[in-house]
Amino acid sequence: MTDTAPPKTLWLGRWGFVLAATGSSVGLGNIWKFPYMTGEYGGGAFVLVYLLCIAAIGVPVMMAEIALGRRGRGSPVDAIRRVARESGRSGLWSAFGWMAMLCGFMVLSFYVVVAGWSVSYLWKAVTGGLQADSVDGMAAIFADNNANPWNLGFWSTLVTIATMAIVGKGVQAGIERSVRWMMPGLVVMLAIMIVYALFSGGFGAGFHFLFAFDPQKLTGPAVLAAMGHAFFTLSLASGAILTYGAYLPAQQSIGRTTLTVALCDTLVALMAGLAIFPVIFANGMDPASGPGLIFMSLPLAFAQMPFGGVVEVVFFLMLAVAALTSAISMIEATVAWLNQSHGIARRQAAWGVGIVLWLVSTLAMLSFNIGADWTLAGKTVFDWLDFLTSRLMMPLGGLGTALLAGFVLRREVVREELGLPGGAFALWQFVIRYVSPLAILVVFLDALGWLGA
Ligand code: PFF
Ligand code: NA
Repeated sequence: MTDTAPPKTLWLGRWGFVLAATGSSVGLGNIWKFPYMTGEYGGGAFVLVYLLCIAAIGVPVMMAEIALGRRGRGSPVDAIRRVARESGRSGLWSAFGWMAMLCGFMVLSFYVVVAGWSVSYLWKAVTGGLQADSVDGMAAIFADNNANPWNLGFWSTLVTIATMAIVGKGVQAGIERSVRWMMPGLVVMLAIMIVYALFSGGFGAGFHFLFAFDPQKLTGPAVLAAMGHAFFTLSLASGAILTYGAYLPAQQSIGRTTLTVALCDTLVALMAGLAIFPVIFANGMDPASGPGLIFMSLPLAFAQMPFGGVVEVVFFLMLAVAALTSAISMIEATVAWLNQSHGIARRQAAWGVGIVLWLVSTLAMLSFNIGADWTLAGKTVFDWLDFLTSRLMMPLGGLGTALLAGFVLRREVVREELGLPGGAFALWQFVIRYVSPLAILVVFLDALGWLGA
């Protein structure tokens, strides 16, 4: 394949990249996964390790990804091939681009199912379908929603269509235009949730749970889960950030934009925790209730509180918006690649990918009903997509990014792209060369060990 000319698309607005990249990183990972993982791993200790991972692995790797994207100006495959060749290295490094693209696609295949839960719960919240007076009653609503593949499939299909429609419209008219109003909306809804939590009567307990550091809870599995989640929550190694970086204007600072995005993502996760746990504790519920935490315990808590019905609508709307701005970023890489390397018009590319995505996501959706026992090593299709991406492909892709940026590319190229002052560059280089790869290797080997077990 010959190198095509780099695309000229750039974000229109000064905040285009930051809004889109924050939209990508702030998602179900922050509002669904982070709270339930924190609940399962016991609170403060998990949160602390998670914060360390964001700082020591997430931020430096994100900077490297944006630099690769901007230098290569293209989809992960094209961009990595270009920058590797520019440094006189083999174009085979683009294998990491292929893996990233595949990873984004796989994440989206199960993400649309959870996003579908969110939209269906929004519908239930609006139409009064979330009435139950016990955890069992709420669990029954959740089970009912999953049991009928036509029902569940309807919601995930809806999310798939919305995602492809936005991406099909293009970077500026589709992605940038939609995040421009969805992101401010998200902030407003989150603020409403926090204020509500402040008055819930459980704020102190929730705060303590999130931030009290109990070293006994610092177990191996908690540490490893925190690292894996750091990648997921920042949308790393999935082609999303790299491809968005390809549209970043030359004069914008990669260091500053990365810090903004990572900070926003972290704040939203902590704020989601501060919005959810107080409500859980105020109603005497168990924080360790797993993936159903926000779909079972939370609606029940709302059902028992003043204005709970209204706040519930805000919550699930916020969840749906957060999921959508992430979903579009997961598939942009593939659509950009089809468009740039194969000359397929964006709209056609989007709908073509959408059909394949719909097929795979349908398999993931069936994990909750007729395919519940299509398992391998005890994991359903849904579980496998989640496990393979967060525990294997993202760490491996992050390692590839770190090696590329730390050792493979010419130092001046990376330095010029990052534009960091001397000391900051030296620190970044030390971390990306030694700290991130070692930490990633640990998570990765653990996941492999799990596979062998
Ligand atoms: N960062 C998103 C979240 O926290 O929900 C998930 C995600 C988005 C993962 C985009 C991967 C990706 F490419
Ligand atoms: Na996130």
